Amino acid sequence: MTSHADSLTDMNEGADPFRLRPVRASDLDPVAALQEASIMTLGAPVYGEAKARAWARLGYQFRHDLLGEGAFWVAEQGQRLLGVGGWSPDSLEADLAWIRYLFVDPQATRRGIGRRLVEQAERSAYAAGRRRLRVWSSLNAVDFYRALGFLPERRARWPMRTALELDNVLMAKRIEQAPLAPPAG
Ligand SMILES: CC(C)(COP(=O)(O)OP(=O)(O)OC[C@H]1O[C@@H](n2cnc3c(N)ncnc32)[C@H](O)[C@@H]1OP(=O)(O)O)[C@@H](O)C(=O)NCCC(=O)NCCS
Repeated sequence: MTSHADSLTDMNEGADPFRLRPVRASDLDPVAALQEASIMTLGAPVYGEAKARAWARLGYQFRHDLLGEGAFWVAEQGQRLLGVGGWSPDSLEADLAWIRYLFVDPQATRRGIGRRLVEQAERSAYAAGRRRLRVWSSLNAVDFYRALGFLPERRARWPMRTALELDNVLMAKRIEQAPLAPPAG
């Protein structure tokens, strides 16, 4: 479901660009490690260490989903992975895509990597006929998704292990028009 056009260079970063490309099988372990670092640095202050650890373990468990239905990308700079994210189709609603597995290297936040990954997912979901997006946002990411036009619908609490629950916010966005792709580099 991905194409050559999905490999895009960020032109706003001048001499220090990052690039998006589709996830491949050899990324799965490095991506899970990136996810763990992201959660333990950016999620633990909100959820506490034990919940963050359990959340990070879920990422290892689900990392093969990145090669399944939908489309996922990594952001990289040279050989270094800086982010990951994409979408999976809803199994019942044909126009609904779920933003999933969005993580940015804690050393590389606020450079627009998360935004670029979500915009790429939006373009791809839109092209696949999925005009509605949803995401189970972690509490630390709610303001990020708001900045991208998502609105909160409700809160939920996920049991991860006995006596360990993770609060999330269900957020949604309708894609009226696919975001423009940045110029190819
Ligand atoms: C949430 C996350 C993906 C954001 O990635 P990012 O690359 O830093 O985000 P961007 O630089 O693209 O930010 C885009 C806009 O979102 C908003 N935003 C991003 N992070 C924010 C924060 N911590 N607080 C408030 N607003 C934030 C800002 O408006 C930002 O624009 P600006 O930098 O020009 O002000 C990243 O913080 C992360 O990996 N967090 C831990 C894992 C996680 O929670 N993932 C989501 C799971 S649902």
